[in-house]
Amino acid sequence: MRRKLVAGNWKMHGSLAENEALLSGLLAGMGNVKAGVAVCVPFPYLAQVQSILANSPIAWGAQNMSQQAKGAFTGEVSASMLTDFGCAYVIVGHSERRAIYGESDELVAEKFAAVQAAGMTPILCVGETLVEREGGITESVVARQLDAVIAKCGVMSLAKSVVAYEPVWAIGTGKTASPEQAQAVHAYIRAKLRDLDATVADGLVIQYGGSVKANNAVELFGQPDIDGGLIGGAALNVEEFLAICRAA
Ligand code: 13P
Repeated sequence: MRRKLVAGNWKMHGSLAENEALLSGLLAGMGNVKAGVAVCVPFPYLAQVQSILANSPIAWGAQNMSQQAKGAFTGEVSASMLTDFGCAYVIVGHSERRAIYGESDELVAEKFAAVQAAGMTPILCVGETLVEREGGITESVVARQLDAVIAKCGVMSLAKSVVAYEPVWAIGTGKTASPEQAQAVHAYIRAKLRDLDATVADGLVIQYGGSVKANNAVELFGQPDIDGGLIGGAALNVEEFLAICRAA
């Protein structure tokens, strides 16, 4: 049985005061949450988040990372810096990084490898744009994004990872993929991986991301191949995020 995982992607939001209120609210409400829960926070707040969440049921991580181990890379953050602050997860290949910062499939695969080499779990984001969906190439886009990681790291590497299917057109738009649309892509991902390794495919946690809210989480997470969610906007609100965690 796959354990569901709900991860909050705070993106570029938060302040010391807001984080403190959000995290103390979440900790107070974790009592009846059965799913795994994590928050992926901006780099400057890792020390704060580590000190608040240490020895709690909530894990934490980062939203990006350099593929380089160390050196003259101004403005970059390495894997060992993240492990210094207790990160368990690192999001790689978020569509905002791919689209705004030009991250290629190959770069994302390098980051994926570096996260794993440091003993953390990558949350690998894949997903199509609206134009790609309307062009009928959703599956080939997702396949290409996965294949870059498989080519670099091998299919077995996915056993120690999480994949997040995030249709770009559903991110921050309030337009959620219908449970059937999301399930279809999740099932496609699992079937594609099953051709390579059935154990990896059946054990892989595949999150859905894109306008998940308290009022649609139950239906989304009820789909057979949806194993929780990667949550943006709704992860910034205690009651919304807790309700999503409970739905999982
Ligand atoms: P929203 O939940 O705000 O649509 O964002 C989804 C997302 O990008 C999570 O990584």
